[in-house]
Amino acid sequence: MADRYLSLTGTAPGRFLTRRLGLPQPARLRRWSPEAPTLRGQLLHLTAGRSALDLAPVLARSGLDLGLDPGLGLDRDLGLDRNLGLGTDHPVAVVLDATGVRDVETLAEVHAALHPVVRTVAEGGRIVVLGTVPDPADHHRAAVQQGLEGFVRSLGKEIGRGRTVNLVRLTDARPAESTLRFLLSPGSAYVSGQVIEVGGGAGTGAGAGEGARATTAPDDWAKPLAGRTALVTGAARGIGEAVAAALARDGARVVCLDVPAAGAALTAVAGRLGGVALPLDITADDAGARIAEALPGGLDVLVHNAGITRDRRLVNMPAERWSPVLEVNLASVLRTTDALLSGGTLRVGGRIVATASIAGIAGNAGQTNYAASKAGIVGLVRSLGPRALAEYGVTVNAVAPGFIETRMTAAVPLLIREAGRRMNSLAQGGLPVDVAETTAWLASPGSGAVNGQVVRVCGQSLLGA
Ligand SMILES: NC(=O)c1ccc[n+]([C@@H]2O[C@H](COP(=O)([O-])OP(=O)(O)OC[C@H]3O[C@@H](n4cnc5c(N)ncnc54)[C@H](O)[C@@H]3O)[C@@H](O)[C@H]2O)c1
Repeated sequence: MADRYLSLTGTAPGRFLTRRLGLPQPARLRRWSPEAPTLRGQLLHLTAGRSALDLAPVLARSGLDLGLDPGLGLDRDLGLDRNLGLGTDHPVAVVLDATGVRDVETLAEVHAALHPVVRTVAEGGRIVVLGTVPDPADHHRAAVQQGLEGFVRSLGKEIGRGRTVNLVRLTDARPAESTLRFLLSPGSAYVSGQVIEVGGGAGTGAGAGEGARATTAPDDWAKPLAGRTALVTGAARGIGEAVAAALARDGARVVCLDVPAAGAALTAVAGRLGGVALPLDITADDAGARIAEALPGGLDVLVHNAGITRDRRLVNMPAERWSPVLEVNLASVLRTTDALLSGGTLRVGGRIVATASIAGIAGNAGQTNYAASKAGIVGLVRSLGPRALAEYGVTVNAVAPGFIETRMTAAVPLLIREAGRRMNSLAQGGLPVDVAETTAWLASPGSGAVNGQVVRVCGQSLLGA
């Protein structure tokens, strides 16, 4: 179901009218395409406080590959008015290294660095703030590092024009390269207001060393999954189809799984992507064994995407509507994960990406079953992530989509659908490709230091924010 309001505001008269009426102004987002695989533009590198990170080589390396011109390196010198030439330069990406922020005085440098810059950031540009995991042993530092979260989430809500703002907590620049590449790319167009930990921290329980060990910089960042095999459940349509396509674009051999009833669509998707179709109901007791049998050479990336809804308020919800949702969305994910990990099908360096939902974070009337299943995914990822990395060398993360334009959301009543589209900082719904790009980043061999994370792909939805 097309977003007609977005089309309207894409025209000059429509923009004029909606602006006069004070209505939301969604911008056209910069997404990946073969013609525009990078953001192209200037990268501005700023520093607040005294940083211990050796970020410059990572930014220079990724900046060049990303089509960014890292010419505006202003780190260690906040003479912004002098150097930036405000009003003439429009950086498309700004990286503010705030890892050195340790007290209220150095937090003021965040304001000093970004205050004169914010207005100049190009439409559809990216701001990434780098911080540290709040330190339980230093409450002053913990306070201001946590302060960065409020800062980033607020800036994301006010910046507009399709620009995104995210916070990455890290201790080492090198394992963060894949995350920086993702956040500074067209792939992250619908990811905003997020806090992502890299390298292990309080949230993951995994040591930074384990994450770094599970990280292999790809030979070719344009094909990070070359030589790897990926299985995507629910791949016959919607988000799953987009995920399979993104992983195939990144070089993976894709195995597309869906229910036998989706056979024709599934075969078509697998054929188009040069992959293999695996018709199988994921709730079958022996699904894990059958997947293992179909993958004698092993598996590198497992994407749990298949999901269903059976909405009804709890007072009206019979067990027949509760059970299938929990079976497809959670129980089968737990069973197949266990089977493929313990049976050794998932190789060392493997990646599991499961699909949660903002409904599992915020809750949603009429979705006690669905939200329970999706919150269950969050619990699974947080608990298993550290252990799977330590025992099997496999990371476990989740994507939590917000309102994404698919058949699932096309079935939502009109007014609720409109509200879902507009109630986020980007004032529009996401596309399946936005979830797919986020999944592809988590699936990359370069992302071994990202573990136990739940990354919302929701345009900074107001729900559960
Ligand atoms: N669309 C959204 O806005 C949104 C928001 C949050 C989360 N999600 C989640 O994203 C995932 C994909 O959603 P979508 O919108 O693409 O849904 P969709 O209904 O378009 O596609 C889901 C696919 O999963 C398959 N599937 C269902 N049960 C299965 C089973 N037992 N075994 C194998 N395959 C099965 C279906 O046949 C279908 O092809 C789901 O987990 C969903 O809960 C979607």
